[in-house]
Amino acid sequence: MASAGAAKLLSGNFGNVCRQLAVRSQSTAAATAAQPVPEKRLKKFSIYRWDPEKQGDKPHMQTYEVDLNTCGPMILDALLKIKNEIDPSLTFRRSCREGICGSCSMNIGGVNTLACISKIDTNLNKATKIYPLPHMYVIKDLVPDMNNFYEQYRSIQPWLQRDDGLKPGDQQYLQSVDDRKKLDGLYECILCACCSTSCPSYWWNGDKYLGPAVLMQAYRWIIDSRDEMSEERLKRLRDPFSVYRCHTIMNCTKTCPKGLNPGRAIAEVKKLLSGIAKKGEPGLNPMGAN
Ligand code: SF4
Ligand code: SF4
Ligand code: FES
Repeated sequence: MASAGAAKLLSGNFGNVCRQLAVRSQSTAAATAAQPVPEKRLKKFSIYRWDPEKQGDKPHMQTYEVDLNTCGPMILDALLKIKNEIDPSLTFRRSCREGICGSCSMNIGGVNTLACISKIDTNLNKATKIYPLPHMYVIKDLVPDMNNFYEQYRSIQPWLQRDDGLKPGDQQYLQSVDDRKKLDGLYECILCACCSTSCPSYWWNGDKYLGPAVLMQAYRWIIDSRDEMSEERLKRLRDPFSVYRCHTIMNCTKTCPKGLNPGRAIAEVKKLLSGIAKKGEPGLNPMGAN
């Protein structure tokens, strides 16, 4: 008897729960039905395409439509959405997606910048045009050949150099607070090459002129109070092309997505080369002795 009562009680409760769930699901369905489906916000992206492995392929623009309601806010979000959902053959570089690695640099709406920190223009009547960095050889689609750029970076020997004969790790080199401050605005460069590829001088003489990004890094090591090879570094830059192709047009500074000022750094290098400015003695003996 007791178990029959319990069974009745249980089935009674079960019936109540089912009724409640049915009512709830009806009201949820009603609410969903009442919600209007948001209208698609279709944005056009016109993207440079070229695949050297496709026989007869010529560079051309291809247009894709992306619903901004289902896309993140940045150009890189749109590129990833196109690649993942529309056309997996679209090729571009990216890694960090937060303006740190420098790999997603490209020309967006006529400006060299980083796709990951560049907001999508939400004007749906206007297609956003995306090209690889200008005046570079293209490997495929939005991927430029960076070999010359990296060779130039290598040529300025971007590491601390001293003539004390010590091996790396033997000694900690000290630097005064003021000397350290001189590196601000220089060390933050992520070598995205947006500046160099916006420089008309670099477009025409990219083989011999080092360009703003590399020259800014040259300056970063020249003025480091711990570096003892400043004179040798300057000597390597003393020719008609490496530095002096810069005509202070300042496109470089205008375009830098990190807000740096390579144009100013080049001007400082010129001052050191001409003898107008001197590096000066370190504020603190790097070896720590008085
Ligand atoms: S300032 Fe010099 S490096 Fe910068 S864009 Fe002009 S010419 Fe090029
Ligand atoms: S200076 Fe700016 S634009 Fe030039 S490589 Fe560095 S981060 Fe990029
Ligand atoms: S993905 Fe690294 S800077 Fe854009």
